[in-house]
Amino acid sequence: MRFDFISVPDRYGNDALAVDAPTDYDFGFGAVKREPGYDVIPMWVADMNFKTAPAIRKAVVERAAHPSFGYFQPRAEYFDAIIRWQKDHNGLAISRENIGYENGVLGGVASACSVLASKGDSILLHSPTYVGFTGVLTNNGYHIVHSPLINENGTWRMDYEDMERKIVDNHIKLAILCSPHNPSGRVWSREELEKAMEVYERHGVYVISDEIWSDILLNGHQHIPTLSISEYARNHVVALYAPSKTFSLAGLIGSYHVILNDWLKTRIGKEESLSHYNSLNVLSMHALIGAYSDEGRQWHEELKEVLSDNINWACDFIERELDGVRVNRPEGTYMLFIDIEEYCRNQAQSVEEVLHRGWKYGVYWQDGRPFHGEYNIRMNLALPKSRVIEAFERLKKEVF
Ligand SMILES: Cc1ncc(COP(=O)(O)O)c(C=O)c1O
Repeated sequence: MRFDFISVPDRYGNDALAVDAPTDYDFGFGAVKREPGYDVIPMWVADMNFKTAPAIRKAVVERAAHPSFGYFQPRAEYFDAIIRWQKDHNGLAISRENIGYENGVLGGVASACSVLASKGDSILLHSPTYVGFTGVLTNNGYHIVHSPLINENGTWRMDYEDMERKIVDNHIKLAILCSPHNPSGRVWSREELEKAMEVYERHGVYVISDEIWSDILLNGHQHIPTLSISEYARNHVVALYAPSKTFSLAGLIGSYHVILNDWLKTRIGKEESLSHYNSLNVLSMHALIGAYSDEGRQWHEELKEVLSDNINWACDFIERELDGVRVNRPEGTYMLFIDIEEYCRNQAQSVEEVLHRGWKYGVYWQDGRPFHGEYNIRMNLALPKSRVIEAFERLKKEVF
């Protein structure tokens, strides 16, 4: 490996929710007093515990060395970097006109909803559901209708009949598709996306396709952009992307949308202009240029190998060592959505008790119930492998 995915960055006091927030947060299973001798292994919020790509630091530091930070326009290199990335990674041919800056993917979701739905409208989501969607939609006054994914022999699948029934019954005209899917880790195949788009098309449903995880692909899986699925998709999909998950840049802020249809692009652009807050930050622009550079790409290729190894190792460990714990192997993202139902039933324990015990021994994992997983725990595996191994050994010895 050319890049460092081994050393553990010291994130304490360095603006990191993953390690700083837990003292103030109420995670719903009571105050936790960590056992002496067990340090924190942050495995909850979805950012990475690796040093980010050196190309990003170089780009940001070089720009920061210039002593002026006045008003600016996004550089041509910024758009070119996105165009090139989308072409090479997703096979999408786009131009500068198709790209729009978003302060965050969730902000993009909110803006697209404002254009494509009225308050009180029902919006279709799959469950389990990324908790951020629930927050944005309820905060903005929409009604969420869930279509549960089906667990088919260890693979999460969309239930097209259920989706269609719910679209009809609830007069739904807008859906959110999470691709790859957080928290299940599914990387939808072309056939699956085609079937989903056929359902949406039959009922004139617009789709917000959140593809923030599209670069985090495990074991050679390939992302298929929803925009590429059909002519209907080209005209009815708002796709959202960011370098933030791929390169752990969430603290710098900066995402973008890709919209191919002119009308949609204009309407959403107008909506996004209304707050007068949706503006690119100069350091975040340089971070994206560094991330999408040739050296950033090499780092990203290595990252996928490291994450695949972590995920494979952890899934093998769970199957071999943790009785009553199940996991569907993710194909993308760095999240595991483990299911502890059998363990809880066999041991007469509650999810809270198990979660609490993990935290007590420094494994800061996340309650899956806000993601609509009744017996699930979400675990972030974007850590140096030594930390992943340490976490699972603690789980085996102290928690399960
Ligand atoms: C599916 C999904 N969408 C959006 C986000 C958040 O994106 P942003 O910080 O750009 O709003 C996350 C973060 O975990 C996510 O998993």
